[in-house]
Amino acid sequence: MTLQELQQEHAASLQAVAGAGDAAALDALRVKYLGRNGLIPALVKQMKDVPPADRPAFGKELGAWRAAFEQALAERTAAAQAAAEPVAAFDVTLPGRWRAEGVPHPVSRVIEECAEIFHRLGFTVADGPDIETKFNNFTALNTAPHHPSMDASDTFWFDPETLLRTQTSPVQIRTMLENPPPVRIINPGRCYRRDTTDATHSANFHQIEGLYVDTKPVSLADLKSTLAYFAREMMGPGIGVRFRPHFFPFTEPSVEVDFTCHVCKGKGCRVCKNSGWIEIAGAGMVDPRVYEHVGYDPDKVYGYAFGMGLERIAMIKYGIPDIRFLYENDIRFLGQFR
Ligand code: DAH
Repeated sequence: MTLQELQQEHAASLQAVAGAGDAAALDALRVKYLGRNGLIPALVKQMKDVPPADRPAFGKELGAWRAAFEQALAERTAAAQAAAEPVAAFDVTLPGRWRAEGVPHPVSRVIEECAEIFHRLGFTVADGPDIETKFNNFTALNTAPHHPSMDASDTFWFDPETLLRTQTSPVQIRTMLENPPPVRIINPGRCYRRDTTDATHSANFHQIEGLYVDTKPVSLADLKSTLAYFAREMMGPGIGVRFRPHFFPFTEPSVEVDFTCHVCKGKGCRVCKNSGWIEIAGAGMVDPRVYEHVGYDPDKVYGYAFGMGLERIAMIKYGIPDIRFLYENDIRFLGQFR
């Protein structure tokens, strides 16, 4: 074999290794080139027949070939073994694993929806703290100095001037103290009262407050149309509102607001105690005394306010029979509201 032929064999052997598809093919090549009767050992044996002058070049080429072939063979064998390893079994036909998926709490959903509905009427969302001053929660809202609602049996007091707010109405005061008219806000938030828990009472509950005060005339008719729009958007078409005279210290005149019973649509049923109406909110025209407390000129501004319980709306809207379901955090109950 000439040196040139030797080099051709060398190249051909490497090509064969590169093209071998699996471990068996590679083993066959190992036997063919390196085995006891393999080509390379045979050529080594033939070295004695090579003319002495050519031997060093021949020997060098044979050594280089053997090294290159062994290395290529080792690399390909390792790669073939890795490819043959079983891949982690992944059965695409298996049913998926169920994961508990969080959903917004019904009260949070009502809050979201209220914000959207009133946003369309130009109301923005205001905020206020749960811990309030006596001034914001009672005095500025024109509550009589010894009104029973201030009693320690009704209100959680920290000290004579600080309490857990009993209503969201103090946010009206904060808003007007911080902003000149016009103001048009809603404020959903937590309230606290020393109530004994039962199916419709909880010491911790939520209200949403609304306040619109402007320097141009705002009337009871505006209040009614706003709440009528809210009633339809929140409870569905065909829901109307009615006002009944009432008393609140911070509004004059004051009204209680009923929505058409969503169950019987006004015909009368067990839910509405046959009246066709369901009490939803308190409201009225802001009392001039309140304007005085926040530094608004009662002769130059007009406005209305309203407030309603959010649990009550959630219970009516979703047919929840007991307020305690909303606070027991049982996911069998909460999970329904997806
Ligand atoms: N704060 C009242 C309550 O807790 C609800 C209320 C009534 C709010 C009339 C108002 C309003 O803004 O005008 O019972």
